[in-house]
Amino acid sequence: MNILFIGDVFASPGRRIVANHLHQIVTEERIDLIVANVENAAGGFGVTAAIADELFSLGVEVMTTGNHVWDKTEIHEYLPRQPRLLRPANYSPLLAGSGLYLGKARNGAEYAVMNLQGRTFMATLDDPFRKVEELLAQIPDRIKVRFVDFHAEATSEKVAFGWYLDGRVTAVIGTHTHIPTADERVLPGGTAYQTDCGMTGSYAGVIGVEKAPVIRKFQTALPVRMEPAKGMVELHATIITADPETGKAVGIRRYALEELA
Ligand code: FE2
Repeated sequence: MNILFIGDVFASPGRRIVANHLHQIVTEERIDLIVANVENAAGGFGVTAAIADELFSLGVEVMTTGNHVWDKTEIHEYLPRQPRLLRPANYSPLLAGSGLYLGKARNGAEYAVMNLQGRTFMATLDDPFRKVEELLAQIPDRIKVRFVDFHAEATSEKVAFGWYLDGRVTAVIGTHTHIPTADERVLPGGTAYQTDCGMTGSYAGVIGVEKAPVIRKFQTALPVRMEPAKGMVELHATIITADPETGKAVGIRRYALEELA
């Protein structure tokens, strides 16, 4: 079976390129399950109920997030009624939502999607290594296809997390940096790994945001108002091929698509 994971969908340019091309990708690549990270889908900051519903209606089955998931306050009320929108599992249990979803793909295979967040150069959350053990313990043995979005800043923490889970999950794919990495591989235990899937949005700015204010911010260290960048819109995704009987990955490749202006 083929799992399509779409990297951080950023603001309206990211949503538009997904809307314009998802159907074609699913057909051409024979996709059985679509997962997307949507933490920046609403203008670059968080996700709203309306935007999540819009992306679900396009065929995205499960959405993952990260540190920006809390940016729009309405999400606290939406998360409890939409189990297919995840937030990193290692945020406080005082917060709404879950970092684990169990479902059935269009090929009939049962699957689990997990979402965790790193701690290096990020907020001090619960230990993701310990937390993922709790999630794995909640997944029935018969569910072999297990996908993990690890939302983290440091490449070292992400690589370590991939090795930690090798042989126990189908894929560990990183998000958050918005820069796709060329290290996709199937680890010896059968876990597909990539440090970062990259961003689906405008590459004309700085990781999705208009470049001039960000350059100014780096020069002056003062806060600036950030707007989503426009133009040079690209979709970045990763396609994992897995054996649904064993849950082992047999292939992983990067998928990129550029929107013609
Ligand atoms: Fe993030």
